[in-house]
Amino acid sequence: MHKNGHAAASAERQGMKKRVSVLGATGTIGLNTAELLALNPDRFQTVALAANRNAAKLAELAIMLKAEYAALADERQEGELRRLLDGTGIECGAGPEALMEAARRSADIVMAAIVGAAGLAPTLTALRQGNVIALANKECLVSAGSLFMSEAARHKATLIPVDSEHSAVFQSLDEVGSKHVERIVLTASGGPFRTWTREQIAAARPEDALKHPNWTMGQKITIDSATLMNKGLELIEAHHLFGVPGEQLSAIVHPQSIIHALVYYCDGSVIAQASLPDMRTPIAYSLGYPARLPADVIKRLDLASAATLTFEQPDEVRFPALRLAKEVMKAGGRASTVLNAANEIAVEAFLGRAISFPAITATVEETLSRAESELAGIVPDSLESVMHLDGRARQIARSVIG
Ligand SMILES: NC(=O)c1ccc[n+]([C@@H]2O[C@H](COP(=O)([O-])OP(=O)(O)OC[C@H]3O[C@@H](n4cnc5c(N)ncnc54)[C@H](OP(=O)(O)O)[C@@H]3O)[C@@H](O)[C@H]2O)c1
Repeated sequence: MHKNGHAAASAERQGMKKRVSVLGATGTIGLNTAELLALNPDRFQTVALAANRNAAKLAELAIMLKAEYAALADERQEGELRRLLDGTGIECGAGPEALMEAARRSADIVMAAIVGAAGLAPTLTALRQGNVIALANKECLVSAGSLFMSEAARHKATLIPVDSEHSAVFQSLDEVGSKHVERIVLTASGGPFRTWTREQIAAARPEDALKHPNWTMGQKITIDSATLMNKGLELIEAHHLFGVPGEQLSAIVHPQSIIHALVYYCDGSVIAQASLPDMRTPIAYSLGYPARLPADVIKRLDLASAATLTFEQPDEVRFPALRLAKEVMKAGGRASTVLNAANEIAVEAFLGRAISFPAITATVEETLSRAESELAGIVPDSLESVMHLDGRARQIARSVIG
């Protein structure tokens, strides 16, 4: 992972527009990205936009941003997308190959914002073009971190983190891989159940868990924030992105979500990054890097009105997902792919009211335990083996849920 300079910067230096594709364009990150692209037509040219099945929103965005290509993963929506884009001159397609075409199109920056392991293949495809990847999809690194990072190095791709905590670390680092870094601390809001008792948490419903106190996000990450699995996934993400061992990474609860991460240096200095909880800030950073993109639409932080910033240790008894993810980070390899797959299945089951809130983490833990013997020998060292492992782990998680 580079910290300085890349092709997109040279495009801007030469006065050319940066060519940007957005995978997961219709989601929360995708829509925030589209807003910033629309506000800066002189800086950006939209190349490809991709989503799963929301043809109406994708077509609307493609027309607004004058995109060259629009793709949906779900081929049943192809007719609808073609109808909506008819006469616009925008090319389109649907199905797995169309998604790959969106990822392959020549671009300076690809915003990787598909949710879950579904984003792995298209993001790897974009990365193998040697593009700059603005990485929102943390599941890529949890599921296949070693593969992903080695492919990024091999294809000289640049990864700019979009997750607010990782963007904060990136902005606070002198250089990636610096020997002067002692430790990195990611902050967590604590989610909607920060002050709830174990009994209250045991009875939590999807509508309770979807009420995040600070951030507006897609459903999956919002549930992950409530279990604190999100912070666990982020520690694994940071481990791969910044090449920092697990022992030097930790999380601290900061309910105001103003400080996003802290980097501790060997001379006693601590560099932290602050901003209001608005994903447009890290997205703007990734789109502008290494320059800064002016973004007047983003409200400015007023420390006097924020008044109090508080910090507390995360409670791994009420939120065991964080402990579990830390154990998996230390174990590495296969366990990380299994953790991610089982978590996706368990979150889906909770949202479908098939399991209780605590059963999300219990399902992941039981899947990890069964996978130790049932999936021994599968090494996630290629996209195919990762997807095979992911599929097998999903089967185990489903059987755990019953
Ligand atoms: N939201 C945040 O504030 C935030 C912050 C940090 C990191 N992230 C990460 O960013 C990623 C996206 O999060 P989000 O909150 O934006 O999610 P979201 O709102 O649920 O949006 C997901 C996007 O992925 C698309 N998608 C889903 N399955 C797909 C598939 N099989 N093939 C192609 N596209 C597919 C969806 O398309 P349809 O609309 O057609 O279904 C949608 O565009 C996640 O990995 C999340 O952890 C998000």
